[in-house]
Amino acid sequence: MLPKKVALFLATVLYFSNAHAADGAKLYSEACASCHGDKMDGNGPIGAALKPKPKSLKGYTVAQLIQVMKTAKKIDGDKGEIALMVGIKSQLKNDEERKAVADYIVSKLK
Ligand code: HEC
Repeated sequence: MLPKKVALFLATVLYFSNAHAADGAKLYSEACASCHGDKMDGNGPIGAALKPKPKSLKGYTVAQLIQVMKTAKKIDGDKGEIALMVGIKSQLKNDEERKAVADYIVSKLK
C-alpha cells in the first residue's frame, strides 16, 4: 500500500495533468483570444488593429474550426494561407488540442 500522502499527491498530479492536456479555454486564450477576442467576435486587442480583421467565430462547426487551425487556410480554400494565422499551426500541438479549442468555441457561441 502507498502511504496516504503519496497516493493523494499522485491523484492530484494526475488530475491536473489531465485537465491541462486539453484545456480548450486556456488554449483559446493563449492561441486565439489576442486576435479573435474574449467574446470571439474578432475584436481582440491585437485583432482590432489588423487588416483584414479577424472574423467572428460564430457559425463554424467543430470540423471547420479544426481544419482552419490545422491549415491556417480559409474554409473556401481559394486564397491560400491566412498569413496572420500561420503561427497557430505550430502553437497547437495535436488534434486533441485543436479539438479542445474547437469544442470550447462552439460551446461558448451556442
Ligand atoms: C495573429 C492574429 C490571429 C490569431 C492568433 C488567430 N487568428 Fe484566426 N483569423 C485571423 C484573421 C486576420 C482572420 C481573417 C482572415 C481573412 O479574412 O482574410 C482569421 C480568420 C479565422 C477564421 C475564419 C476562416 C474562414 O475561412 O472563414 C477562423 C475559423 C479562425 N480564424 C479561427 C482561429 C482560431 C481557432 C484561432 C486560435 C487557435 C485563431 N484563429 C488565431 C487572425 C488570427
